[in-house]
Amino acid sequence: STTLEQAIEGNTYKKDAWTNTPPSILAKLPRRLHQQENHPISILRNLIETHFKDFQAISPASAIVTTHMNFDELGFPADHPGRSLTDSYYLNQTHMLRTHTSAHEVETFRAGHDKWLLSADVYRRDEIDASHYPVFHQMEGARVWTQDQLQDLKSLNAKMAEELAACPLVIEDISISSESNPYQPEHNPELAKEIAQNLKHSLNSMIFRLFGQLKAKSTDEEPLRVRWIEAFFPFTTPSYEVEVFWNGEWLEILGCGVVMQKTLKNAGVPQKLGWAFGLGLERIAMILFSIPDIRLFWSEDARFLRQFKEGRITTFKPYSKYPPCYKDLSFWLPQEKNPKEARGAKAAGGGMTAGTLTFHENDFCEIVRDVAGDLIESVTLIDDFTNKKTGRQSKCYRLNYRSMDRSLLNEEVNALQGEVIQRLVEELHIEPR
Ligand code: PHE
Repeated sequence: STTLEQAIEGNTYKKDAWTNTPPSILAKLPRRLHQQENHPISILRNLIETHFKDFQAISPASAIVTTHMNFDELGFPADHPGRSLTDSYYLNQTHMLRTHTSAHEVETFRAGHDKWLLSADVYRRDEIDASHYPVFHQMEGARVWTQDQLQDLKSLNAKMAEELAACPLVIEDISISSESNPYQPEHNPELAKEIAQNLKHSLNSMIFRLFGQLKAKSTDEEPLRVRWIEAFFPFTTPSYEVEVFWNGEWLEILGCGVVMQKTLKNAGVPQKLGWAFGLGLERIAMILFSIPDIRLFWSEDARFLRQFKEGRITTFKPYSKYPPCYKDLSFWLPQEKNPKEARGAKAAGGGMTAGTLTFHENDFCEIVRDVAGDLIESVTLIDDFTNKKTGRQSKCYRLNYRSMDRSLLNEEVNALQGEVIQRLVEELHIEPR
């Protein structure tokens, strides 16, 4: 890698105004947790693949995709917030780390697959806490039919509905296909309805398979509750989000819908129609295996790894809880940006990248992660005010450090905090108070 280009997985990528992926993130590409035998992410992937018996299991080779695959061909509008430099990792203007497994829908349909599951690592710039990590894993699933194959769908759905009715499962469906969540004009509404039904039955039965046994083992007698909500994605309609009621709260676990006919046309299979879903493996694995912090998935400590076996859902036993150590950081935001610099930022995709003078929390968190790696547990805003006279804005963040595997020394944490501050001053132009 030079200052002008970077070599990743044997390819070179020219750097430009969009380049915002630090080496600490690129270092995650070879880990492939979803393919590591006996790792909880892999165990969960396998359980879902076993449930969807005759679906083809796929894993794409590289996390690097074109912005065309990740956004354009799926119908994301030019001003979609997901495209911004504060939310996604770019290698340059044309290449990025995929933010979702949907980036592979078109190529997978083009390859002729009709029933498939695709698992992969995905990358998003985000906040720092026990359930957010810049790399996580998704599984995309889809099923499509040709018109004549759809003849049997009604009876298949009836059979599935009957099987589900026999399960201790409460399904709350608050997704009505209304004006806000319409069928596609090119679809016969009767058929689209059967496809949506099949999607619902398929996912309800998968969710029951994963959570049902755990629920049965637990002390509370209530049946498992699943909730279907209307959603919006540029590449499906109607679209839904599915939530599971767990430990007293509704947890969103997946997004799905009837595949936009445009996607199938793009893939060269305009005669097919069907559904797709995308689920977050960490979210579900944290519940099923009782894993309290998302960083644990990245641990190479045998005390973590040896607790899991392929094919089984076991409860994680924390081996030790090491003490946390927090440091507060108060600072002034950079002063008014000069108009020239602000225009440059806009050209690079809506601004707000590290290096320009507009502050964004994801840029802040990126630097903290880059310095502290997995030793940072959470970053929380604890104060935010604007000086009435000068108009200057001040923020205070609490940085909570803790290792999953050992005790941290106070000097060690001070050194990390010092380096964080130095980088924030240099790159985000904040002014410590
Ligand atoms: N890709 C979507 C996400 O990451 C999930 C999704 C997949 C929605 C497939 C609909 C169909 O949020």
